[in-house]
Amino acid sequence: MQNKSRQQIAILDFGSQYTHLISRRLRDFSVLARIYPPDVKIDILQGENLIGLILSGGPKSVYDKTAIKYTNAIFDLKVPILGLCYGHQLIGQHFGGKVKSGKISEYGFAKLKIKNLKLNKNLKLKIKNYNASLFNKLPYNMRVWMSHGDSVVKAPAGFDILASTNDCAIAAMGDLSRNIYGLQFHPEVHHTKDKDRILHNFAVKICKARQDWKIDDLLTEIIKDIKKQAKNKKVFMLVSGGVDSSVAFALLEKSLGKKNVIGLHIDSGLMRKNESAQVIQDLAKTGFDDLNVVDASEIFLTRLHGISDPEQKRKIIGETYLDVAEEWFKKNVETIHESSILGQGTIYPDTIETGGTKHADIIKTHHNRIDRIQKMIKQGKVIEPLKNFYKDEVRAIGRKLNLSRHLLNRHPFPGPGLGIRVLCSESKINALKLPKLKLKKTALNCQILPIKSVGVQGDSRTYAYPLAVWGINNWNKLEKISTDLTNKYRNINRVIKVCWIRSEGMPKFQCKPNTYLTKERLNLLREINDIVEQEIRKAKIYDKIWQFPVILVPLTLNGGESIILRPVESREAMTANFYKMSKSVLTKITYQIAKFTKIDAVFYDVTNKPPATIEWE
Ligand code: XMP
Repeated sequence: MQNKSRQQIAILDFGSQYTHLISRRLRDFSVLARIYPPDVKIDILQGENLIGLILSGGPKSVYDKTAIKYTNAIFDLKVPILGLCYGHQLIGQHFGGKVKSGKISEYGFAKLKIKNLKLNKNLKLKIKNYNASLFNKLPYNMRVWMSHGDSVVKAPAGFDILASTNDCAIAAMGDLSRNIYGLQFHPEVHHTKDKDRILHNFAVKICKARQDWKIDDLLTEIIKDIKKQAKNKKVFMLVSGGVDSSVAFALLEKSLGKKNVIGLHIDSGLMRKNESAQVIQDLAKTGFDDLNVVDASEIFLTRLHGISDPEQKRKIIGETYLDVAEEWFKKNVETIHESSILGQGTIYPDTIETGGTKHADIIKTHHNRIDRIQKMIKQGKVIEPLKNFYKDEVRAIGRKLNLSRHLLNRHPFPGPGLGIRVLCSESKINALKLPKLKLKKTALNCQILPIKSVGVQGDSRTYAYPLAVWGINNWNKLEKISTDLTNKYRNINRVIKVCWIRSEGMPKFQCKPNTYLTKERLNLLREINDIVEQEIRKAKIYDKIWQFPVILVPLTLNGGESIILRPVESREAMTANFYKMSKSVLTKITYQIAKFTKIDAVFYDVTNKPPATIEWE
């Protein structure tokens, strides 16, 4: 039985990529939030000291046959309710309004105009509630983050329209007397420029949360959980050397003792330049000097030969990590007990993007979420002490464990490494029919390129083309073009700016057929990636950039290939903005890359997440 006196806000998960982020935001202001499935039994919620309910976004349509089943009685709980995106539409439909597929989908920034209800002299009650409600202390015009195709087109009786955008008339609505609100945009995403005020207002002003949940309790709670789950079992831990697996390894050793945790670093050949040596050195410096290392680069490359589909690549890499680890443990550890378990540094975004909650779409299969691991998780054979946290929280935990600043502040690097930053192509790709783009107003120098990358729109995966644009250098202008065009054309999920090309006149990019993962291509990318890293360290912008994928793509002009620069700013990788680099640094980087004779062009990705993802695959 739960402790009924502990206040909580319940979040019903309709499958949004951001559901967990809502609970994370509430945690940030010391409010306990728990996530439940939408068909949760009502007595479970009634058994809690519930002070509010949040309905998340999700990839489905509320009016569709596939709409997610939910417990109707949630609307009778007599606590304040806030619906976000799908949740907003569900409130619209449930209370008798109308939801339709919009003429225009909105992905990215939109300008929200909050209605000034205070001006209406006849709405005394509303004025009072309004002052204490969602938009308290916020400006009337605000940038918000949208990711939707459907919209509420008619508000239910009793609901006021509280705000709108150019493309969405009912961007916020509320029944102020019953404290039921719906927002089409995502206040949980930090691109919504409210400084988390809306969720704070909902929790503290509307739900009257006491704010008594303490983040300091976190480490104690995690260690207690590890001890409980691992009991007397031995943990085998795969340590890639990234922030997450290093912190998880340190946590496990701290909780269970060094002799019960065996760490293995596998050099997959997909690492950055000198990375494996650096990892061992960094960990040893902080006392974790018992890491084992195995070179498995040949096996990885052999298995990846001839593969171009990103999901297939991800699965092969994940499987190969497990095979190599199993073989190593069999050979090197005297006794493998039936009861031993696998430790992983999985963090929350890895889970959600692999469709890790019941209603979420698969955006990408993270290497630590392949089927074989999912099966082991069901059997209780995997321990993941960080699976509910985000990168910045993981870094904070790492600081509490005294891990080195260098290790903790490194840019995140994906488990499949350069394997998903070297794009491959099959022979058929030249026959691809590219969609035609109609640009009415502005004559834009642009070309749709014959390669595809992964994106996320309206909580669903996309696999679509990038649009290359020439001749525009203003980042804000590029951002606007990128948002407008990716909203308008479903076949385009990225816009990239051409920085440099090895050609005179208007280039015509071709996709180089039969281009797969090879040692040569990986070495080429490793060198270029290293140069980029050195330049941004020299320019003192390394810490301002959250992550900087450098991607090799088989786009050719003169027999070479192309490089895409993808620096982003982010807080927890669920959403991201492309980084607006100074012209001088970009020129230096481009100049250095252009010296590589195997490179024909350099592009700069000017797409936010969504509609693109941070990595290209
Ligand atoms: P995307 O590209 O989906 O990535 O915007 C979000 C964050 O996750 C990282 N990433 C991974 N990390 N295993 C990981 O440990 C993976 O398979 C994986 N795929 C993506 C990515 O680098 C970014 O930080």
